[in-house]
Amino acid sequence: MIIDILTIFPGFFEGPLRESILGKAIQEGLVKIRVHNLREFTEDRHRTVDDRPFGGGAGMVMKPEPIVRALESLQAEKPQPRIILLTPRGYLFNQVTARRWSLYDRIVLICGRYEGVDERVSFFVNEEISIGDYILSGGEAAAVVVVDALVRLIPGVLGNKESSETESFERGLIEYPQYTRPRSFRGYEVPEVLISGNHERVRKWRILQSLLLTRERRPDLFAKVILSREEKELLEKFDRFGATP
Ligand code: ADE
Repeated sequence: MIIDILTIFPGFFEGPLRESILGKAIQEGLVKIRVHNLREFTEDRHRTVDDRPFGGGAGMVMKPEPIVRALESLQAEKPQPRIILLTPRGYLFNQVTARRWSLYDRIVLICGRYEGVDERVSFFVNEEISIGDYILSGGEAAAVVVVDALVRLIPGVLGNKESSETESFERGLIEYPQYTRPRSFRGYEVPEVLISGNHERVRKWRILQSLLLTRERRPDLFAKVILSREEKELLEKFDRFGATP
């Protein structure tokens, strides 16, 4: 997969693209990420990327020409990329979107800045996406989030453990809690079941924890999830009798 990022702050990506899983995936050639400075696509002496809004008002608006020129230069290459504008006005990004995008060979992410992007840019993009209901200073941080979520889905990037966590989340369930040594930490103990050595009990306990956490913290996800017979039984025993495996 090739991901092209259009930004007026190319330096923003230096750290995130070098570190951790992302950095490793790039080094191993599993994904290629190219960061393009939108100022390179301006034609005036001052390399202007923004201007005052028509109709007046505070702040500046990103001009359409540098963005569309950059897109056209990228579209000259094959295969054609999926073009995404990062904006707080977009559809909400989630794991389903990440899965869908991971099937494209090429993705272009446009990072909006300032108070917005000239609306006519929308005629040149495939999707407008927000990563959450909050305002960032620009699309750069959002692009890092999207790239991270996408790269994790490329075959070969993750180990089995991390992949299965992603898959459990894709079912619409929050992961069960994890513990490591020491057994007792400042008076807080590791749940007894996890040191019981009884794998079947551990498995059931984890399922129940995952269900309870999801129901409590994410009722929106819980309402949509289809429970297996075993999951229903574990929940029912807990709700009726307070029973935990
Ligand atoms: N730019 C500013 N805020 C954003 C958000 N929440 N998602 C995507 N791009 C943004």
